[in-house]
Amino acid sequence: MQERIIQFLKESDGYISGEEISQRLNMSRAAIWKHMQELRAQGYEIAAVPHLGYQLVTCPDKLLSYDIQSGLNNKIIGKKINILDTVTSTMDEAFRLGMENCPEGTVVCAEAQSKGRGRLGRLWTSPKGKGLYFSFILRPNMPLNCLAQLTLMSAVAVAEAIESISKLKPLIKWPNDILLEDHKLAGILTEVRAESDQVKFVVVGIGLNVNSSLNQLASGAVSLKSSAGHHFDRAQVFQAVLHFLEKGYLKVLRHEFAGIMEEWKKRSATLNRRVRITDPAGTTEGQAIDLDEDGALLIRKDNGLIIKRSAGDVFILR
Ligand code: BTN
Repeated sequence: MQERIIQFLKESDGYISGEEISQRLNMSRAAIWKHMQELRAQGYEIAAVPHLGYQLVTCPDKLLSYDIQSGLNNKIIGKKINILDTVTSTMDEAFRLGMENCPEGTVVCAEAQSKGRGRLGRLWTSPKGKGLYFSFILRPNMPLNCLAQLTLMSAVAVAEAIESISKLKPLIKWPNDILLEDHKLAGILTEVRAESDQVKFVVVGIGLNVNSSLNQLASGAVSLKSSAGHHFDRAQVFQAVLHFLEKGYLKVLRHEFAGIMEEWKKRSATLNRRVRITDPAGTTEGQAIDLDEDGALLIRKDNGLIIKRSAGDVFILR
């Protein structure tokens, strides 16, 4: 109900009377007054003038699902958005929802994570109210070996979203680290629930540092704010990311992955660089020369042999 009240206040030009809110929400004036007090306690600054009514002056920096959904025309990703306060990891929440048969595209976002996780068992630092930490559930009809497509598609979508709302030019380190001048800005984690070789559902988790200061982040990481020098509206950033994720996912479903790969390559921080890659098979060095059609990295070793890696940790040497 408080979300509806805020929505009215945001949509109204100037003051809106308690009477009008009470009629439209079918609620007593006393109940509205109580909600206004609670909203103020949450950090909303709401002016109240006798005979005129209420006016929203400022909002706290808090994500609200209707804010993000308004103006977003997605049919799949973000049709349903759950915003939580603090969770261990949005991946855990999304897996729970996935098991409960939630609709495809359901998004779970948290203001903070106490055990945000990254690839290869790393921690994802998630300071409260400073970033976007969210996971979404997809139910594509695809074999397990095509999953990398979703990861690369998500990396391209995050980069495109950042380009659409700022002058920043992010690059992608294989497979899916989003970098600004060699520093990590965002990361993507793809986990799957599968039976035999078939995907039951996929959870894609995205962590994007938006307004965090450098001392709130893991060493070497940056945020949009630290790079651009100004604050970003997280709801606007979120909308842009969801918009490009939907666009990318529809392409994957239409088997247009080649186009996504082109976009990935244009922003690559890895190709044509000398790299060291560590995976369970060991560590290899060489020149990163290309991606294969499934998104695996092709590396030319110093002896001329070309090897293919589908997972691993890449270190760019020069
Ligand atoms: C990486 O770069 O290693 C991937 C980082 C993924 C972090 C996000 S934050 C939202 C979601 N919840 C998690 O616990 N992890 C992902």
